[in-house]
Amino acid sequence: MNKKPNIAIVGATGVVGTTFLKVLEERDFPFDQLTLLASSRSAGKTVDFKGATYQVEELNDHSFDEGIDIALFSAGGSTSEKYAPIAAAHGVVVIDNSSAWRMDPSVPLVVPEVNPQDILWNHGIIANPNCSTIQAVVALKPLHDKYKIKRIVYSTYQAVSGSGIKGINDLKNGTSIAYPHPIVNNCIPHIDVFMENGYTKEEMKMIHETRKILGDPSIAITATTVRVPVFDSHSESINLEFERPFEIEDVKKLLAVSPGIVLRDDPANNVYPLASEAAGTDPVYVGRIRRDESVANGLNMWVVADNIRKGAATNAIQIAEELLKGEKFQ
Ligand code: A2P
Repeated sequence: MNKKPNIAIVGATGVVGTTFLKVLEERDFPFDQLTLLASSRSAGKTVDFKGATYQVEELNDHSFDEGIDIALFSAGGSTSEKYAPIAAAHGVVVIDNSSAWRMDPSVPLVVPEVNPQDILWNHGIIANPNCSTIQAVVALKPLHDKYKIKRIVYSTYQAVSGSGIKGINDLKNGTSIAYPHPIVNNCIPHIDVFMENGYTKEEMKMIHETRKILGDPSIAITATTVRVPVFDSHSESINLEFERPFEIEDVKKLLAVSPGIVLRDDPANNVYPLASEAAGTDPVYVGRIRRDESVANGLNMWVVADNIRKGAATNAIQIAEELLKGEKFQ
């Protein structure tokens, strides 16, 4: 690589923003200049990173006027809606963690283990999928390629860190600020707002985003998404129906060698994916793999990943690493 990128983090003080910094450091992501942006509430705060001290700046219309190559956004949908196009107009490639641009047909929606080729046709904005979708499609991609998925039933068990600091505080303190009910002692079947069809927006995000990332609008999908009293890592029960028959041992072997996946599937020894073990790590853990005996070519599995890392920060930084392979940085 000849040119190291200048990077910006928008939402640098948030749960995902601070994890961006952690992951950049761990992966030794090359950069020249680093700009940290947040709201006026954080302007002037300092952040120590890789031996230097950075001052957080207030995001404004001129934040991208000069020299930024890649901007990692995680400051909510309305901030992305307004500022991602401004950044893109200045030649910045935005990797956006909000839902603002994900379903825009002119914006690629990317999980690097699944559809890295879509990065190439970006027009300045690349969307990072919803956390629960990312971990699901990492596990689904090799199975879809080999057996062709006809139908998916998602049931999720999602951690409070997905709601940012407010969600974490509700579980710590027994309050009910991020959610309409206390999360302590409850599983709340309500993530994001309700839609006219009775689904929540989170459920519809999983349905639409899965089809877009796998590039297959024909897959039938339903989802129930649930917030549970767990700090970190989303767990998902995924039920699949394939067009083609499979052997369960082949499914396990395939998943074991597929990118981004760690197989944790030894029920005799109580080994299966656990949120507490996934927390703070990058892989997607898959286990409880078994035939669904109620339908032809049916499969059940249990998929767990850290929603802030693979579900957000790590996935975005993997996209940035792919960008560095492009001609602009060679
Ligand atoms: P700030 O800390 O200044 O409020 P989380 O999801 O963990 O709550 O974090 C949200 C992140 O998005 C924070 O860094 C927050 O900055 C930032 N943010 C929220 N609203 C804006 C805004 N209007 N402009 C810029 N950054 C924002």
